[in-house]
Amino acid sequence: MSGNIIYESKDHKVFLFEELTPASAVQANQFLIIHENSGVLLDPGGHKVYSKLLSDISLLIPPNNIKAIFLSHQDPDIVASINGWLMTTKAEAWISKLWTRFLPHFGLDSQLEGRVNSIDDKGTKLIIDGCELLVLPAHFLHSPGNFQIYDPCSKILFSGDLGASLGQDYVFVEDFDNHIQYMEGFHKRYMASNKIMKFWANMVRELDIEIIAPQHGAIFKGKDMVNRFIEWIENLECGVDLLSQEDYKAP
Ligand SMILES: [Fe+2]
Ligand SMILES: [Fe+2]
Repeated sequence: MSGNIIYESKDHKVFLFEELTPASAVQANQFLIIHENSGVLLDPGGHKVYSKLLSDISLLIPPNNIKAIFLSHQDPDIVASINGWLMTTKAEAWISKLWTRFLPHFGLDSQLEGRVNSIDDKGTKLIIDGCELLVLPAHFLHSPGNFQIYDPCSKILFSGDLGASLGQDYVFVEDFDNHIQYMEGFHKRYMASNKIMKFWANMVRELDIEIIAPQHGAIFKGKDMVNRFIEWIENLECGVDLLSQEDYKAP
């Protein structure tokens, strides 16, 4: 069993799976929230992760008790296994309305399409067995139709690709300044602009966050580390901020 528990109370648990990705693929984290007897699976990943994740999750909760599958955006490391998950569970899936029509290209059967729900740009709330998850707009961080989940029970913000790090050998960030080297290149190239970073920072400062858990790499735990990350993001120039006409010349 590869799941690490990152939050636990009497009726609410959060598990991280961080070691299921094959070596040649970009490392990806999968998360499972169990509230009472219901499960919510976040960004389940691709085909290579699917069978291992399914067997690990089955030790924690019957797959039929997974009620919702949240897809932060349309990338293959998030959605490629969606057909398998909808076949082996009774869950409903949620993804930005920009991407629902792209899922059949990942092999989603037409009979299962009715269980995929479109999320409108403003976001929504997912209520699972009385647990209310906020689906926060995070467009252009990095996908044009992108959402994050805030779980008020565990005070975890599941930030998708925002906060992703690659190449470090730890699960929790201990030294923020040293950690920047593992995040910087990705954020400068994949995130759209500093304007969006500031909107995001203003939005999440209104929330009571204990952990920021990205879809790749290490996790930010504790209010100090969470605030360091928000400050760093808020001040980062990225994406179109860094481009000029020099970058758009025919080869
Ligand atoms: Fe992505
Ligand atoms: Fe990703």
